[in-house]
Amino acid sequence: MGWTGDEFEVTVGPVAHGGHCVARHEGRVVFVRHTLPGERVRVRVTEDRHPGFCRADAVEVLEAAPARVERPCPYSGPGRCGGCDWQHVDPAEQHRLKAAVVREQLVRLGRLDAGDPVVSGLAVEALPGGALRWRSRARFAVDGAGVPGLRRHRSHDVVALDDCPITVEPAARAVLTRRWPGAGAVDVSIDSTGAVTTARLDHRGRPQLVEVQHAGEELPAEPTGRAERRAGGRDWEVEGTGFWQVHPAAADALVSAISGFAAVAEGETVLDLYAGAGLFGGALAPAVGESGRVVCVEADPGACAAADANLGALPQAEVWQGEVDADGLAELLEELGAAPDVVVLDPPRAGAGKAVSRLLAGTGARAIVYVACDPAALGRDVSAFAEAGYRLAAVRGFDAFPMTAHVECVALLVPA
Ligand SMILES: C[S@@+](CC[C@H](N)C(=O)[O-])C[C@H]1O[C@@H](n2cnc3c(N)ncnc32)[C@H](O)[C@@H]1O
Repeated sequence: MGWTGDEFEVTVGPVAHGGHCVARHEGRVVFVRHTLPGERVRVRVTEDRHPGFCRADAVEVLEAAPARVERPCPYSGPGRCGGCDWQHVDPAEQHRLKAAVVREQLVRLGRLDAGDPVVSGLAVEALPGGALRWRSRARFAVDGAGVPGLRRHRSHDVVALDDCPITVEPAARAVLTRRWPGAGAVDVSIDSTGAVTTARLDHRGRPQLVEVQHAGEELPAEPTGRAERRAGGRDWEVEGTGFWQVHPAAADALVSAISGFAAVAEGETVLDLYAGAGLFGGALAPAVGESGRVVCVEADPGACAAADANLGALPQAEVWQGEVDADGLAELLEELGAAPDVVVLDPPRAGAGKAVSRLLAGTGARAIVYVACDPAALGRDVSAFAEAGYRLAAVRGFDAFPMTAHVECVALLVPA
């Protein structure tokens, strides 16, 4: 402890969950940002609060890895905007690093064997559209003077931005070219028609004012704004800045991966948990036909209203507003009457947790398709499913968040 501000040289080891790489100095672990495995760098310690490890930024590259590139974003780099982790990394290498992180989490937290072909064969696939201008939904911070930007890594400081090159340009422009006096943050999203919704939030994250713009013209906004998204060959209604996959190609890629893993047949019952606007349940409903059943469960009332609208033409699909937790799920399974054949779940970052995983395994579903935006949560839940009699049969990774260390996975669990 007490190293904060110190500089020294290290040889950088493997990538770790969170976008940094692991190095060692005087017997201690150093988590280094802005570097790559194999590099020799001079680091400056940014945080030293734990006896076992400290955090540092690579401030000088002495021996560069072959995959290091010029950062396309002028705001990124040590001590600057904390929005991206890997602007300095060639996109193909970003995919390899993400795959390495998912494999490591499945071994360490999922307690799988590194030699298991599901683990060793895991790759992260690129989505179409390149590594920049993919973010169709974002939250920007606002400083005390009303200037928008993003926070420095592990800090409350707002770095003022004129642009954010990973955000779709009209969405970045709608927020970053003006001031937002008194706001705590601003949410923005751009839909498939090009309509940009901005929601000014107060300091407690509550929306104050929602505006919708189309090609520079202001449209009369509904109280929450409505957006239209296209995926799986159809349009979907979503709340203006409400949940939808951030990368414009992610919804199609995930629907295709889920459909492949679920392989639902006519007459089957499907549970879509944490359903948002009903994307996955709605995409699987045609395959179960009118003799089958799809139940989408979602806690947020606005998302449930959107799901109701999206599933209105599918009589086999229902939307249930409710909490997926141990009590809520037990009640829901009782109300469902019959055991589901297939469960799709897409929980928030923390994952489903042990109790929910156990209850789902208890249904005996022939396939459980788990969509995960955090490989650590996936690892923990895979381990809970394994204890309850389900094995990981396949995983696909998608680079739905280029330039960041985030990765989206779709996993198939089947009875062991
Ligand atoms: C990652 S999003 C997935 C949405 C949807 N599957 C999609 O891809 O569009 C997670 C969703 O779970 C909902 N949610 C979070 N916690 C929940 C809970 N405990 N019970 C039910 N829904 C929850 C959120 O409101 C959000 O819509």
